[in-house]
Amino acid sequence: MGKSTVLVTGGCGFIGSHIVETLVQKSYRVRILDNLSTGKLENIASISKQDIDLLIGDVADLSTVEEAMQGCEYVFHEAAIASVPKSVNDPIGTGKVNYGGTLNVLEAARKHSIRRVVFAGSAAVYGSEPTLPKQESMAANPITPYGVDKLGSELMGHFYARTLGVEFVCLRYFNVFGLRQDPSSPYSGAISIFCDRIRQGLAPVIYGDGLQSRDFVHVSDVVKANLIVLEHPQATGKSFNVGCGVATSLLDITNILNDLTGQNLQAIHQEPRPGDIRHSLADNTTLRTLGWSPQISIRQGLAELLQTSVANLKVKK
Ligand SMILES: NC(=O)c1ccc[n+]([C@@H]2O[C@H](COP(=O)([O-])OP(=O)(O)OC[C@H]3O[C@@H](n4cnc5c(N)ncnc54)[C@H](O)[C@@H]3O)[C@@H](O)[C@H]2O)c1
Repeated sequence: MGKSTVLVTGGCGFIGSHIVETLVQKSYRVRILDNLSTGKLENIASISKQDIDLLIGDVADLSTVEEAMQGCEYVFHEAAIASVPKSVNDPIGTGKVNYGGTLNVLEAARKHSIRRVVFAGSAAVYGSEPTLPKQESMAANPITPYGVDKLGSELMGHFYARTLGVEFVCLRYFNVFGLRQDPSSPYSGAISIFCDRIRQGLAPVIYGDGLQSRDFVHVSDVVKANLIVLEHPQATGKSFNVGCGVATSLLDITNILNDLTGQNLQAIHQEPRPGDIRHSLADNTTLRTLGWSPQISIRQGLAELLQTSVANLKVKK
């Protein structure tokens, strides 16, 4: 691997900071563009400052994005307002970042002859249609402004790739989990919130019966997917599901957490949340054809989270 400079938008966030860490380990130079709205400097605190340029700024501002891209060869575009509820409450404000920000990244990439843009898409583009597992060829039908902006972003990216010569790859992340995920965010999903409650000796709260399931993918496997598509000749112009292909229910997670910690916390059930999708599951065949496969199981990932975040709990492997 050479010493290319890579821009990571949203590099102070949960997923972005893991991408930055791996890029630095692989001797890339990294520039981060982040407005620290949900990202934190502590997420990149362990990474050597020599290898990172940090630009505090907004992806919704084209001149800022152009400045950030100067001298870069590749871009990972992770910056977004990653909250479905926020997008429902403020479709204009979130759209300026989630769609407008991507458009700025694509336009600046064209101007700066960036070699490839890798975009953080989402399984939210599939919407609530119940057929599972989701394949990339299935019709997208997002049901929230967040999902609409993610779909618009990827379609625009493919337009730039097809017509304007900007190489572009979309990774449709399913439910990503791992260290540094913020439990205070409503979008963080069950895992970081459950672990946070266990740290306080509290039982998990489940909306509904707990049989709703998600395809949880560990952040290190998401980073691997990003690195694989960065230069793979068959990746440009395509969208890929990034999920393990395993359905895990919220009750499964509660059971694994109880088993790992030797506790018997009974989940507290509350009214189901309107609009929550019942099941989500990826068909990851397309990404596997590029040599990717998930390495970390939900149980391993949960054990890691507990070990790191829950000080005096004994964790079984
Ligand atoms: N976490 C998941 O399960 C998941 C699933 C699907 C897609 N995604 C996508 O992955 C990406 C990363 O998500 P995450 O979970 O790490 O969330 P995160 O909130 O931790 O990271 C987002 C980062 O973007 C930054 N940001 C937000 N608005 C910005 C703006 N206007 N200008 C510059 N920076 C801005 C934030 O400060 C933060 O550092 C997002 O695009 C998100 O939509 C995440």
